[in-house]
Amino acid sequence: MGTVAEEDKFREINIEFLAKGGDEAFDIFYKTDNFGEDKFVKFASTERKHQEKVMRLLEEGTDQEFYIHESDLFKYYKYATNSLRAVMANPDIPIKEKTEKIYEVSKGVMKEFFENNTSEKILETSEEVMEMMEECMTTAEAGFHGIAEITSKDYYTYTHSVNVGLYCMTFGVKSKMSKGDIKQLSLGGMLHDVGKSKIDHALINKDGKLTEEEFKKMQSHATEGGGILTGMNCFAGNVVRMAAEHHEKFKGGGYPIGKVGNEIHLFARICKVMDVYDALTTRRSYKKALSAFDTLIIMKKQMAHDFDPDLLQNFIRLMGPDL
Ligand SMILES: [Fe+2]
Ligand SMILES: [Fe+2]
Repeated sequence: MGTVAEEDKFREINIEFLAKGGDEAFDIFYKTDNFGEDKFVKFASTERKHQEKVMRLLEEGTDQEFYIHESDLFKYYKYATNSLRAVMANPDIPIKEKTEKIYEVSKGVMKEFFENNTSEKILETSEEVMEMMEECMTTAEAGFHGIAEITSKDYYTYTHSVNVGLYCMTFGVKSKMSKGDIKQLSLGGMLHDVGKSKIDHALINKDGKLTEEEFKKMQSHATEGGGILTGMNCFAGNVVRMAAEHHEKFKGGGYPIGKVGNEIHLFARICKVMDVYDALTTRRSYKKALSAFDTLIIMKKQMAHDFDPDLLQNFIRLMGPDL
């Protein structure tokens, strides 16, 4: 078995998230160098008799990196959400630390999905983590400023997804939407680009001009995303439409359909604002991150036709005190 194939099967984990345990046991490995090849050695399993070993390590602290087999990812994320619940319930842990941990797990879930071709079933985890995040945000009365502090400023499809989910959530909370709507809006924000999982990494990261064919392929992510989420049968129509319609433009000329105004679902119109905001305020290999202020100016002056003007105005108003 070659190194690459072997490495492909193991995923780095954060053992901190094993603290609370879960129902099903799985093995934990560490990596060693075996004559220039990575070798994964079993450290412990999550069975009760081994749990002590993990707990001791957690208490002592370690720089060692740990791995699990990819087939155990679902179990791991189950453990991670259990641990997050315990973190949430602990009044001694500051809210900032709580949100950072939730961000880490959300990022992990989306990264698995986008970069390692993990089954879309893993996306089901996003509902639970977003719920916890909402709980944190409501408790802390965190606004866009608080969210901006925890979001990654380097653009990857997976961080962008979580960021858009959080911005959508903040917008919902600040606009006093119902709990159910906030839940769907944040979930749809997090899942709006899932269709990109069907596109080659090389194309997604290409920084030069795209050929017409490549451009068409890129655009297909909206329809593909709607299809993936519909196929999963567990997401509301509102969530599906955010994925399918977030590239439509308010005054027309967007894709895939070219819908205008209110034909575009309200949640998709909100998603569009957050999508562009995050894309402009994060760095990529070929562009710097813009400040919040410059971004809002561009959105308002140069891209005004793309957005629902009332929503953009509301967003700017809600951002206001944080600028
Ligand atoms: Fe998109
Ligand atoms: Fe996006």
